[in-house]
Amino acid sequence: MREKNPITLDEKLAYLRELREQAVHSASAEAVEKQHAKGKLTARERIERLLDPGSFEELDTFVRHRTHEFEMDRKRPWGDAVVTGHGTIDGRPMFVFSQDFTVFGGSLGEVMAEKMCKVMDLAAKVGAPVIGLNDSGGARIQEGVVSLGAYGDVFVRNVQCSGVIPQISAIMGPCAGGAVYSPAMTDFIFMVKETSHMFITGPEVIKTVTGEEVEFEELGGAMTHNSKSGVAHFAAEDEEQCLADIRYLIGFLPLNNLELPPRVEPYDDPERAERALDEIVPPDPQKPYDMRDLVSLVVDDGDFFEVQEHFARNIIVGFSRLDGHPVGIVGNQPKHLAGVLDIESSEKAARFVRFCDAFNIPIVTFTDVPGFLPGTSQEWNGIIRHGAKLLYAFTEATVPKLTVVTRKAYGGAYDVMSSKHMLADFNFAWPTAEVAVMGPEGAVNIIYRRDIANSPTPDERRAKLIDDYKAHFANPYSAAERGYIDDVIEPSQTRPKLIGALRTLQTKRVDQPKRKHGNIPL
Ligand code: HXC
Repeated sequence: MREKNPITLDEKLAYLRELREQAVHSASAEAVEKQHAKGKLTARERIERLLDPGSFEELDTFVRHRTHEFEMDRKRPWGDAVVTGHGTIDGRPMFVFSQDFTVFGGSLGEVMAEKMCKVMDLAAKVGAPVIGLNDSGGARIQEGVVSLGAYGDVFVRNVQCSGVIPQISAIMGPCAGGAVYSPAMTDFIFMVKETSHMFITGPEVIKTVTGEEVEFEELGGAMTHNSKSGVAHFAAEDEEQCLADIRYLIGFLPLNNLELPPRVEPYDDPERAERALDEIVPPDPQKPYDMRDLVSLVVDDGDFFEVQEHFARNIIVGFSRLDGHPVGIVGNQPKHLAGVLDIESSEKAARFVRFCDAFNIPIVTFTDVPGFLPGTSQEWNGIIRHGAKLLYAFTEATVPKLTVVTRKAYGGAYDVMSSKHMLADFNFAWPTAEVAVMGPEGAVNIIYRRDIANSPTPDERRAKLIDDYKAHFANPYSAAERGYIDDVIEPSQTRPKLIGALRTLQTKRVDQPKRKHGNIPL
């Protein structure tokens, strides 16, 4: 209950200021100190660093919970356990909710969900991204089943906003139970090393149910979810870096699915020929190179903002710009597992491709792939189903699609990696490209097995057949002869070629058949 009853205008204004002051400082000094001691910022401090200075407009400052059970009516802090509102990043509108761990452990009850849903609904209406800063113990235990229903309301918004406005989540503390499923349905998850954790059930419950002993960090820390589970996309050293990274990511994205991504005036010359590219692919096809170096030489100012850099490292995905226009980059990574496609890399790239397509971001693919990873582990865990996701995602994408085959493009993986057959718009190959059903050694061993066995000098015969095969198939020209490759280009010309192709594709339109939605093999 309110203690005061202001009568005059001055008293009313003073009362409003007092209430607002109370709301801003609803947490006890001790709770704030505890938060800082853990290396964490408070909910409001995070918003200040995320948004342009002074741009934050708070909503629902005076919302309070309505729970009576467990003597909750004795503690009804203004604003409950979340700060919500809107502001700008680089002058562009954003909606934000920032959960406050200092109030009921950031746990989610009825009115907290109402506040979050309000900003999500507003964001969807005006077409602006939602950024959620999560720091929550999950469903508010005192509110019982009501808090489960409240989570449901948030989940529904996540699904309805998906593909309409970008949804970004930062995990900035322990996020347990229901607190992880909303972020899981958003487009990108940022975590902070040491201070953020995500899990469905914590170490205590795991020990009780399965007997397994595991610490918080190993179970659901930033590097676990960035390198093992693939749940998270970014791992920051601290909260400041995490919030700066979110601002940086936002710079590549349109505000909604009806807009084009924002162009920035480039410094880099669109005609820049990059001689270093001529030498980047080693003459020995078994030797690796770093696809990230290649990408950096092509894109504006060498800037490649990698997504999921610690997960499925045999494929790289991320954002760059070409002549100022944001593009999504997908590239096989010869440095890891020779750039082979497997379950994790297929899923990683497929999700990224679908994000780019949903938000009108052209996709540039760099192909150097020896094929799909063979073996029972891959087969039994469903490489057919998971590999099909990438095939599906590339084919379904209607944004401009450009492909450069730098070296190997073998077998089914050649088809998958945004080939002409999968409706890519412009497909270039370097003279070092080898577009074929399989590599020379494997092919010769299969089709000439008897010939080699019957030869008086099998090793020489094999070497001769491999040379013949290389001359015929380990090059880009049989594919170019059929128009599967639009042009064989000098590596140094890759940047101007891609920029020219992107310009041509600016007005690309694709008619889609009417349907509810396709059925991607999830
Ligand atoms: C109410 C909660 C709470 C919760 C924490 N608090 N979680 N209050 N509901 N879910 C309160 C604590 O009582 C404490 O209040 C304050 O927040 C800080 O919590 P501590 O435990 O002191 O902090 P810490 O040691 O840092 O541990 C944080 C924690 C732990 C790891 C999150 O509190 C914890 O395990 N909480 C329960 C997590 C959980 O199992 N959630 C799942 C709920 S079920 P005081 O007053 O002492 O400061 C769920 C299902 C949804 O979410 C399903 C939807 C699909």
